[in-house]
Amino acid sequence: MRIITDIAEMQAAADEARLTGKRVGVVPTMGYLHEGHLNLLRTAREHARFVVLTAFVNPAQFAPNEDFEKYPRDFERDRALAEKAGTDVIFFPSREEMYPNGCETFVEVSHLSQVLEGEFRPTHFRGVTTIVAKLFNCTKPHVALFGQKDAQQAAMIRRMVKDLNFDIEIIVGPIVREADGLAMSSRNVYLSPGERKDALVLSQALHLAKDLISRGEKDTSAIRSAMFLLIAGKPTAAIDYVACVNPETFQTVKALHSGEPVLFLLAVRIGKTRLIDNEIIEVG
Ligand code: PAF
Repeated sequence: MRIITDIAEMQAAADEARLTGKRVGVVPTMGYLHEGHLNLLRTAREHARFVVLTAFVNPAQFAPNEDFEKYPRDFERDRALAEKAGTDVIFFPSREEMYPNGCETFVEVSHLSQVLEGEFRPTHFRGVTTIVAKLFNCTKPHVALFGQKDAQQAAMIRRMVKDLNFDIEIIVGPIVREADGLAMSSRNVYLSPGERKDALVLSQALHLAKDLISRGEKDTSAIRSAMFLLIAGKPTAAIDYVACVNPETFQTVKALHSGEPVLFLLAVRIGKTRLIDNEIIEVG
């Protein structure tokens, strides 16, 4: 496994793989890998003979009051895990390599970047789509893999790829959960033992939604109210949003219709840690 920190060297490695007929797959991450990322790396291997993991904590997607400085980092651990998962290259650029002159050019998916997460983190998605476009130009993939845990991010990247004609297949891997239901996230390390228990309320609220729907509830505001009540029962929890949307357009869904899947999404602060979770629910 090679570690590449230089953009030109990364581009040359991708060119060489392409010239020798290999499909290039990329898994963009901010490092501090967990099972969700490793699952994406293994899936990448099924779709590509040259698998690149990018590990870059992207300052452009953090607001000044957010956790850029304290975001967990452990390159040696990432290196060992990536190697075991069958990665060919880790692209691990410095901030200076990625943004030598700051950034004047941004890629923004206008509507999708403004709603839900975008309301709470107004410049976040612009930072995400910009760095993902840059990483695509650095790694030249045929296929790129993202996690469903960041559902809005995944939808936006699909839209960006379509709108800007990137010749890249996008694969979205499932949410990987701890045995007790907590969605895996690099930020879970911030939780104290008490908060870790309260954090279960996110997956429990999604479970409650599924349960109500299977019992015939069609009114999404009734479902969302029940989810609110459940979450509000946890002393450390503060809700940013609980939403029900169309999984592709992210338009709000008010009434459920048989055969039309919906996406329930939530963002909840547990103490100082902001967690998100979601589930696509089939309406029977
Ligand atoms: O999902 C993430 O880890 C990041 O938002 C991404 C896609 C690597 C861009 O920095």
